[in-house]
Amino acid sequence: MSARAKVNTMKQVIFDTDIGIDDAMALLFLHYAPDVEIRAIVTGFGNASIADTTRNALYMKERFGIDAPVFRGAGAPFGAALGEGYPDFVHGRNGLGDIDIADPAGKPDSLDAAQAIVDLVRDNPKQISIVAVGRMTNIAEALALDPQLPDHVGELIVMGGAFGFNGHRGNVSPVAEANIAGDPLAADIVFSSGMPTTIVGLDVTNETIMNSTYIDGLRRDAGDAGEFLHQISRYYLAFNERSTGRFECSTHDPSAVAYLLNPGMFETQQAAVRVVTEGIALGQTIWSAPDPNYFTSAWKDIPTCQICTGVDSEALLRLYRDTLLMAVQ
Ligand code: BDR
Ligand code: CA
Repeated sequence: MSARAKVNTMKQVIFDTDIGIDDAMALLFLHYAPDVEIRAIVTGFGNASIADTTRNALYMKERFGIDAPVFRGAGAPFGAALGEGYPDFVHGRNGLGDIDIADPAGKPDSLDAAQAIVDLVRDNPKQISIVAVGRMTNIAEALALDPQLPDHVGELIVMGGAFGFNGHRGNVSPVAEANIAGDPLAADIVFSSGMPTTIVGLDVTNETIMNSTYIDGLRRDAGDAGEFLHQISRYYLAFNERSTGRFECSTHDPSAVAYLLNPGMFETQQAAVRVVTEGIALGQTIWSAPDPNYFTSAWKDIPTCQICTGVDSEALLRLYRDTLLMAVQ
Protein backbone atom coordinates (compact mmCIF):
# COMPACT_ATOMS: atom_id res chain seq x y z
CA MET A 1 0.00 0.00 0.00
CA SER A 2 1.37 3.45 -0.84
CA ALA A 3 1.97 6.00 1.93
CA ARG A 4 -0.78 8.21 0.51
CA ALA A 5 -3.35 5.36 0.51
CA LYS A 6 -2.40 4.49 4.07
CA VAL A 7 -2.96 8.06 5.23
CA ASN A 8 -6.42 7.99 3.68
CA THR A 9 -7.44 4.95 5.72
CA MET A 10 -6.37 6.48 9.03
CA LYS A 11 -9.22 7.23 11.42
CA GLN A 12 -8.91 10.81 12.67
CA VAL A 13 -10.06 10.96 16.26
CA ILE A 14 -10.99 13.57 18.85
CA PHE A 15 -10.82 11.86 22.24
CA ASP A 16 -13.15 13.59 24.74
CA THR A 17 -12.25 12.31 28.18
CA ASP A 18 -12.39 12.77 31.96
CA ILE A 19 -9.17 10.81 32.55
CA GLY A 20 -9.86 8.48 34.76
CA ILE A 21 -8.43 4.95 35.05
CA ASP A 22 -10.48 3.34 32.28
CA ASP A 23 -10.11 6.52 30.20
CA ALA A 24 -6.33 6.04 30.45
CA MET A 25 -6.79 2.45 29.28
CA ALA A 26 -8.82 3.73 26.33
CA LEU A 27 -6.27 6.43 25.45
CA LEU A 28 -3.47 3.87 25.23
CA PHE A 29 -5.73 1.66 23.07
CA LEU A 30 -6.16 4.58 20.64
CA HIS A 31 -2.50 5.55 20.79
CA TYR A 32 -1.19 2.12 19.84
CA ALA A 33 -3.91 1.32 17.26
CA PRO A 34 -2.04 1.38 13.93
CA ASP A 35 -4.81 2.99 11.89
CA VAL A 36 -5.69 5.83 14.27
CA GLU A 37 -4.45 9.40 14.32
CA ILE A 38 -5.41 11.23 17.51
CA ARG A 39 -6.06 14.80 16.34
CA ALA A 40 -6.99 16.17 19.78
CA ILE A 41 -7.49 15.19 23.39
CA VAL A 42 -10.25 17.30 24.93
CA THR A 43 -10.77 17.10 28.65
CA GLY A 44 -13.77 17.45 30.90
CA PHE A 45 -14.64 17.20 34.59
CA GLY A 46 -16.00 13.90 35.77
CA ASN A 47 -13.80 11.25 37.31
CA ALA A 48 -11.82 14.13 38.81
CA SER A 49 -11.79 17.94 38.54
CA ILE A 50 -11.04 19.59 35.20
CA ALA A 51 -7.62 20.61 36.57
CA ASP A 52 -6.80 16.99 37.42
CA THR A 53 -8.17 15.41 34.23
CA THR A 54 -6.28 17.97 32.12
CA ARG A 55 -3.08 17.31 34.09
CA ASN A 56 -3.62 13.55 33.55
CA ALA A 57 -4.00 14.06 29.80
CA LEU A 58 -0.76 16.08 29.65
CA TYR A 59 1.01 13.50 31.81
CA MET A 60 0.01 10.64 29.50
CA LYS A 61 0.88 12.64 26.40
CA GLU A 62 4.40 13.16 27.70
CA ARG A 63 4.97 9.71 29.20
CA PHE A 64 3.78 7.84 26.11
CA GLY A 65 4.76 10.32 23.40
CA ILE A 66 1.19 10.94 22.23
CA ASP A 67 1.43 13.42 19.39
CA ALA A 68 -1.82 15.37 19.91
CA PRO A 69 -2.73 18.74 21.42
CA VAL A 70 -4.66 18.81 24.70
CA PHE A 71 -7.62 21.20 24.97
CA ARG A 72 -9.10 21.96 28.37
CA GLY A 73 -12.88 21.66 28.43
CA ALA A 74 -15.86 21.97 30.72
CA GLY A 75 -15.44 22.14 34.47
CA ALA A 76 -19.15 21.97 35.34
CA PRO A 77 -22.37 20.54 33.83
CA PHE A 78 -24.91 22.28 31.61
CA GLY A 79 -27.84 21.39 33.84
CA ALA A 80 -28.74 19.46 36.99
CA ALA A 81 -26.40 16.55 37.72
CA LEU A 82 -26.74 13.55 39.98
CA GLY A 83 -24.41 13.66 42.97
CA GLU A 84 -21.70 16.06 44.05
CA GLY A 85 -17.92 16.06 44.04
CA TYR A 86 -15.74 13.50 42.27
CA PRO A 87 -15.69 9.70 42.57
CA ASP A 88 -12.29 9.42 44.28
CA PHE A 89 -13.41 6.08 45.75
CA VAL A 90 -13.38 4.70 42.16
CA HIS A 91 -10.49 6.51 40.43
CA GLY A 92 -8.43 7.89 43.33
CA ARG A 93 -8.01 11.53 44.34
CA ASN A 94 -5.80 12.24 41.31
CA GLY A 95 -8.02 10.25 38.91
CA LEU A 96 -5.25 7.75 38.18
CA GLY A 97 -5.51 5.45 41.16
CA ASP A 98 -3.30 7.72 43.27
CA ILE A 99 -0.06 6.53 41.67
CA ASP A 100 2.72 9.12 41.71
CA ILE A 101 2.36 11.50 38.76
CA ALA A 102 5.16 13.89 37.88
CA ASP A 103 3.95 17.39 36.98
CA PRO A 104 3.82 17.60 33.18
CA ALA A 105 6.05 20.18 31.51
CA GLY A 106 3.45 21.06 28.86
CA LYS A 107 0.29 23.13 29.08
CA PRO A 108 -3.09 22.75 27.40
CA ASP A 109 -3.69 24.66 24.17
CA SER A 110 -5.14 28.14 24.67
CA LEU A 111 -8.28 27.27 22.63
CA ASP A 112 -11.32 26.05 24.56
CA ALA A 113 -12.29 22.39 23.96
CA ALA A 114 -15.71 23.15 22.43
CA GLN A 115 -14.17 25.57 19.92
CA ALA A 116 -11.43 23.05 19.13
CA ILE A 117 -14.10 20.43 18.34
CA VAL A 118 -15.94 22.86 16.05
CA ASP A 119 -12.76 23.92 14.23
CA LEU A 120 -11.41 20.41 13.70
CA VAL A 121 -14.74 19.08 12.45
CA ARG A 122 -15.32 22.06 10.15
CA ASP A 123 -11.79 21.75 8.72
CA ASN A 124 -12.23 18.00 8.10
CA PRO A 125 -15.87 17.51 7.10
CA LYS A 126 -17.17 13.92 7.63
CA GLN A 127 -13.62 12.80 8.50
CA ILE A 128 -13.55 13.16 12.28
CA SER A 129 -14.61 10.43 14.70
CA ILE A 130 -15.31 11.80 18.17
CA VAL A 131 -14.83 9.17 20.87
CA ALA A 132 -16.48 10.63 23.99
CA VAL A 133 -15.96 8.78 27.25
CA GLY A 134 -16.91 11.41 29.82
CA ARG A 135 -19.77 13.88 30.24
CA MET A 136 -21.37 15.18 27.02
CA THR A 137 -20.79 18.78 28.13
CA ASN A 138 -18.05 19.70 25.64
CA ILE A 139 -20.07 18.36 22.71
CA ALA A 140 -23.24 20.13 23.83
CA GLU A 141 -21.20 23.34 24.05
CA ALA A 142 -19.80 22.70 20.56
CA LEU A 143 -23.38 22.27 19.30
CA ALA A 144 -24.32 25.60 20.87
CA LEU A 145 -21.41 27.24 19.00
CA ASP A 146 -22.25 25.49 15.72
CA PRO A 147 -25.76 23.99 15.37
CA GLN A 148 -24.79 22.56 11.92
CA LEU A 149 -22.09 20.41 13.50
CA PRO A 150 -24.09 17.13 13.16
CA ASP A 151 -23.89 17.43 9.35
CA HIS A 152 -20.10 17.56 9.44
CA VAL A 153 -19.09 15.04 12.11
CA GLY A 154 -17.98 11.66 10.70
CA GLU A 155 -19.25 9.76 13.73
CA LEU A 156 -19.68 10.16 17.46
CA ILE A 157 -19.05 7.14 19.67
CA VAL A 158 -20.18 7.61 23.26
CA MET A 159 -19.42 5.49 26.29
CA GLY A 160 -22.45 6.15 28.43
CA GLY A 161 -25.95 5.14 29.37
CA ALA A 162 -27.68 1.92 30.31
CA PHE A 163 -30.73 0.56 28.51
CA GLY A 164 -31.29 -2.71 30.36
CA PHE A 165 -29.97 -5.06 27.68
CA ASN A 166 -28.20 -8.14 29.05
CA GLY A 167 -29.67 -7.30 32.47
CA HIS A 168 -27.46 -4.24 33.01
CA ARG A 169 -28.96 -1.17 34.66
CA GLY A 170 -27.42 1.99 36.12
CA ASN A 171 -24.20 2.29 38.10
CA VAL A 172 -24.90 5.57 39.95
CA SER A 173 -28.64 5.02 40.47
CA PRO A 174 -30.85 2.05 39.55
CA VAL A 175 -31.31 3.61 36.10
CA ALA A 176 -28.46 6.07 35.46
CA GLU A 177 -24.90 5.60 34.24
CA ALA A 178 -22.18 7.96 35.53
CA ASN A 179 -21.24 9.83 32.33
CA ILE A 180 -24.87 10.62 31.53
CA ALA A 181 -25.87 11.32 35.14
CA GLY A 182 -23.00 13.82 35.35
CA ASP A 183 -24.72 16.07 32.78
CA PRO A 184 -28.12 14.68 31.69
CA LEU A 185 -29.21 17.81 29.83
CA ALA A 186 -26.04 17.85 27.72
CA ALA A 187 -26.56 14.18 26.85
CA ASP A 188 -30.20 14.76 25.90
CA ILE A 189 -29.16 17.63 23.61
CA VAL A 190 -26.42 15.55 21.95
CA PHE A 191 -28.49 12.38 21.48
CA SER A 192 -31.36 14.37 19.93
CA SER A 193 -29.12 16.44 17.67
CA GLY A 194 -28.95 14.17 14.63
CA MET A 195 -25.20 13.67 14.95
CA PRO A 196 -24.37 10.16 13.67
CA THR A 197 -24.03 8.60 17.12
CA THR A 198 -23.32 5.15 18.51
CA ILE A 199 -23.91 4.63 22.22
CA VAL A 200 -21.74 2.03 23.93
CA GLY A 201 -23.48 1.66 27.29
CA LEU A 202 -23.21 -0.50 30.38
CA ASP A 203 -25.32 -3.03 28.43
CA VAL A 204 -22.09 -4.07 26.70
CA THR A 205 -19.25 -2.59 28.76
CA ASN A 206 -20.31 -4.70 31.77
CA GLU A 207 -20.22 -7.80 29.56
CA THR A 208 -16.44 -7.55 29.02
CA ILE A 209 -14.38 -8.14 32.14
CA MET A 210 -10.66 -7.56 32.63
CA ASN A 211 -9.56 -9.83 35.45
CA SER A 212 -6.32 -9.85 37.37
CA THR A 213 -4.70 -12.51 35.17
CA TYR A 214 -5.47 -10.50 32.04
CA ILE A 215 -3.98 -7.30 33.47
CA ASP A 216 -0.95 -9.19 34.82
CA GLY A 217 -0.42 -10.41 31.24
CA LEU A 218 -0.41 -6.83 29.96
CA ARG A 219 2.15 -5.91 32.61
CA ARG A 220 4.35 -8.82 31.53
CA ASP A 221 4.09 -8.25 27.78
CA ALA A 222 3.24 -4.61 27.00
CA GLY A 223 6.30 -2.74 28.29
CA ASP A 224 5.83 0.59 30.06
CA ALA A 225 2.21 0.81 28.88
CA GLY A 226 1.48 -2.53 30.57
CA GLU A 227 3.31 -1.48 33.73
CA PHE A 228 1.33 1.78 33.88
CA LEU A 229 -2.00 0.01 33.32
CA HIS A 230 -1.16 -2.48 36.02
CA GLN A 231 -0.29 0.30 38.49
CA ILE A 232 -3.36 2.49 37.92
CA SER A 233 -5.74 -0.47 37.86
CA ARG A 234 -4.92 -1.63 41.44
CA TYR A 235 -7.22 1.05 42.86
CA TYR A 236 -9.99 0.37 40.32
CA LEU A 237 -9.99 -3.38 40.87
CA ALA A 238 -9.96 -2.91 44.65
CA PHE A 239 -13.05 -0.66 44.37
CA ASN A 240 -14.80 -3.36 42.36
CA GLU A 241 -13.74 -6.02 44.83
CA ARG A 242 -15.36 -4.05 47.65
CA SER A 243 -18.68 -3.96 45.78
CA THR A 244 -18.74 -7.35 43.99
CA GLY A 245 -16.15 -9.46 45.81
CA ARG A 246 -14.15 -9.90 42.58
CA PHE A 247 -10.75 -8.27 41.88
CA GLU A 248 -11.56 -7.32 38.27
CA CYS A 249 -13.17 -4.50 36.29
CA SER A 250 -15.66 -3.85 33.54
CA THR A 251 -14.24 -2.57 30.26
CA HIS A 252 -16.05 0.77 29.97
CA ASP A 253 -14.11 3.38 27.99
CA PRO A 254 -11.93 0.94 25.99
CA SER A 255 -15.19 -0.53 24.60
CA ALA A 256 -15.92 2.76 22.82
CA VAL A 257 -12.49 2.58 21.18
CA ALA A 258 -13.14 -1.07 20.29
CA TYR A 259 -16.30 0.02 18.48
CA LEU A 260 -14.27 2.57 16.51
CA LEU A 261 -11.68 -0.04 15.52
CA ASN A 262 -14.02 -2.95 14.83
CA PRO A 263 -17.77 -2.22 14.95
CA GLY A 264 -18.42 -5.77 13.73
CA MET A 265 -17.76 -7.03 17.26
CA PHE A 266 -21.01 -5.38 18.43
CA GLU A 267 -24.73 -6.03 17.93
CA THR A 268 -26.65 -2.79 17.53
CA GLN A 269 -30.07 -1.35 16.90
CA GLN A 270 -31.37 2.06 15.81
CA ALA A 271 -33.39 3.96 18.39
CA ALA A 272 -34.47 7.41 19.40
CA VAL A 273 -32.75 8.14 22.72
CA ARG A 274 -33.80 10.63 25.36
CA VAL A 275 -32.36 11.37 28.78
CA VAL A 276 -34.35 12.14 31.92
CA THR A 277 -33.30 15.62 33.12
CA GLU A 278 -35.14 15.85 36.44
CA GLY A 279 -36.64 13.80 39.24
CA ILE A 280 -35.70 10.45 40.74
CA ALA A 281 -34.76 8.99 37.35
CA LEU A 282 -32.31 11.85 36.61
CA GLY A 283 -29.79 10.64 34.03
CA GLN A 284 -31.78 7.62 32.85
CA THR A 285 -31.32 6.85 29.16
CA ILE A 286 -34.53 5.68 27.47
CA TRP A 287 -34.77 4.28 23.97
CA SER A 288 -37.78 4.18 21.70
CA ALA A 289 -38.51 2.76 18.29
CA PRO A 290 -38.37 5.55 15.69
CA ASP A 291 -41.63 7.39 14.94
CA PRO A 292 -43.89 5.87 17.58
CA ASN A 293 -47.50 6.90 18.17
CA TYR A 294 -47.31 7.92 21.80
CA PHE A 295 -49.57 10.20 23.85
CA THR A 296 -46.64 12.61 24.17
CA SER A 297 -44.71 14.73 21.71
CA ALA A 298 -41.44 13.99 23.58
CA TRP A 299 -40.53 11.29 21.04
CA LYS A 300 -41.82 12.97 17.90
CA ASP A 301 -39.27 13.58 15.13
CA ILE A 302 -36.26 12.66 17.27
CA PRO A 303 -33.36 11.59 15.02
CA THR A 304 -32.10 8.12 15.90
CA CYS A 305 -28.85 6.92 17.44
CA GLN A 306 -27.36 3.45 17.21
CA ILE A 307 -27.24 1.65 20.56
CA CYS A 308 -25.07 -1.36 21.31
CA THR A 309 -26.99 -4.38 22.59
CA GLY A 310 -24.38 -7.13 22.43
CA VAL A 311 -20.61 -7.63 22.16
CA ASP A 312 -18.11 -10.37 21.37
CA SER A 313 -16.17 -9.92 24.62
CA GLU A 314 -13.43 -12.41 23.83
CA ALA A 315 -12.67 -10.69 20.53
CA LEU A 316 -12.63 -7.31 22.27
CA LEU A 317 -10.17 -8.45 24.93
CA ARG A 318 -7.98 -10.02 22.23
CA LEU A 319 -7.99 -6.80 20.21
CA TYR A 320 -7.12 -4.72 23.27
CA ARG A 321 -4.21 -6.97 24.19
CA ASP A 322 -2.91 -7.26 20.62
CA THR A 323 -3.03 -3.47 20.26
CA LEU A 324 -1.30 -2.77 23.59
CA LEU A 325 1.46 -5.17 22.60
CA MET A 326 2.24 -2.79 19.70
CA ALA A 327 3.85 -0.68 22.46
CA VAL A 328 6.82 -3.01 22.41
CA GLN A 329 7.05 -3.67 18.64
C1 BDR B 1 -17.97 5.67 33.00
O1 BDR B 1 -17.89 6.52 34.16
C2 BDR B 1 -16.53 6.79 34.47
O2 BDR B 1 -16.29 6.51 35.82
C3 BDR B 1 -15.70 5.91 33.60
O3 BDR B 1 -14.50 6.55 33.21
C4 BDR B 1 -16.56 5.60 32.42
O4 BDR B 1 -16.41 6.56 31.42
C5 BDR B 1 -18.56 4.34 33.40
O5 BDR B 1 -19.85 4.51 33.92
CA1 CA C 1 -14.54 8.15 31.43
